[in-house]
Amino acid sequence: MKTTINQVSKYLDQEVTIGAWLANKRSSGKIAFLQLRDGTGFIQGVIAKADVPEEIFTTAKSLTQESSLYVTGTIVKDTRSPFGYEMQVKKIEVIHEAKDYPITPKEHGTEFLMDHRHLWLRSKKQHAIMKIRNQIIQATYQFFAKEGFMKIDPPILTGSAAEGTTELFHTQYFEEEAYLSQSGQLYMEAAAMALGKVFSFGPTFRAEKSKTRRHLIEFWMIEPEMAFTTHEESLEVQEQYVQYIVESVLQNCQLELNTLGRSVEKLEKIKAPFPRITYDKAIELLREKGFNDIKWGEDFGAPHETAIAESFEKPVFITHYPKDIKAFYMKPDPERDDVVLCADLIAPEGYGEIIGGSARIDDLSLMEQRYIEHNLAGDAYKWYLELRKYGSVPHAGFGLGLERTVAWICGVEHVRETIPFPRLLNRLYP
Ligand code: 4AD
Ligand code: MG
Repeated sequence: MKTTINQVSKYLDQEVTIGAWLANKRSSGKIAFLQLRDGTGFIQGVIAKADVPEEIFTTAKSLTQESSLYVTGTIVKDTRSPFGYEMQVKKIEVIHEAKDYPITPKEHGTEFLMDHRHLWLRSKKQHAIMKIRNQIIQATYQFFAKEGFMKIDPPILTGSAAEGTTELFHTQYFEEEAYLSQSGQLYMEAAAMALGKVFSFGPTFRAEKSKTRRHLIEFWMIEPEMAFTTHEESLEVQEQYVQYIVESVLQNCQLELNTLGRSVEKLEKIKAPFPRITYDKAIELLREKGFNDIKWGEDFGAPHETAIAESFEKPVFITHYPKDIKAFYMKPDPERDDVVLCADLIAPEGYGEIIGGSARIDDLSLMEQRYIEHNLAGDAYKWYLELRKYGSVPHAGFGLGLERTVAWICGVEHVRETIPFPRLLNRLYP
């Protein structure tokens, strides 16, 4: 019977064949331990000299790292490993012999591993991160389907900037200039006026010269947009969504969290509602924590976000930022013109902002005023203004950055390990 590692529990005490690669190997004169991986998981194969024909044991002992094999043997319980099963190997068929695999079990530097990302992805830790990333993707689709959202795909080639002009990738679009999308939001607003509750999930691009553990040049964003929805209602969707993905990972990725050494206890505390503090309160909190120089009106950097997050076990919403440091489309607080109805959701443990969102300006004349203030004249934004002309409604939305969320849930230091092939300031390879 041919099967895969994640299915072996169905074949207890039976003989199966698995297509696998040799991740690692230990052997003595009498016994060999083969660490096998097949993409679905990792299992140990044990092969005792006394139990198999001579040539099979010889083959096992000479196997090289990352050679591809068909391995046949009996599945037995193994109480010492977290996986719970191992294979008593009877037969090995070598498909392809790998020579001098560059990533050996010893420690390697990050740049070396990044240069070999196409191979590094095979490692147990990277496998665990990709598995959790996939779980978050699955949970995202489940959550928004369950809540009645329609998936909408905004364009990637665009004629206008969504989040300010300094971080745009320019490209030629025949005779015109085009940009790679920084955010699908403006199109999602149009979609919400057509379809009510919508979400997008796609790649976004920021030509940011930032070299931090939180910044990628290309990252994936989930952007829900909701018609007839207030800022407060949007916050409730956000905390429900984040709770849902954390629960989904806890339920389905125990083994991977264990591989990563992630504290499950910390993740189990991620239950809605999440605390909310205003920007004003955050400034006070920062001053109490020794950031004496911070002035009202300044944006928060990573050290500020980390300091604020330290006061909470759950993600925390920072709301009502000064309008001058936020995007042109954010709706002013009706009680205070200098702040906007927005929130950034800051993850615990120093992972920083994972969501940015707001209520959107729905008043035509106010939006026209913002166009003048932000120099958005011209045809590129004409269509966006028309959304305020024909049946405008209060609406709100947000964007969750997938990689920062994966980094937080996995407890990995840097976003470069949370996407299969990261695009970084100095890296377009592999
Ligand atoms: O706060 P941002 O820029 O918000 C928007 O783009 C809005 N238009 C979203 C919306 O309301 N529809 O980005 C949203 C999130 C951030 O909170 C962060 O998680 C992630 O996207 N993000 C990045 N992730 C990795 N690398 C970068 N350079 C990122 N920039 C933003
Ligand atoms: Mg933001």
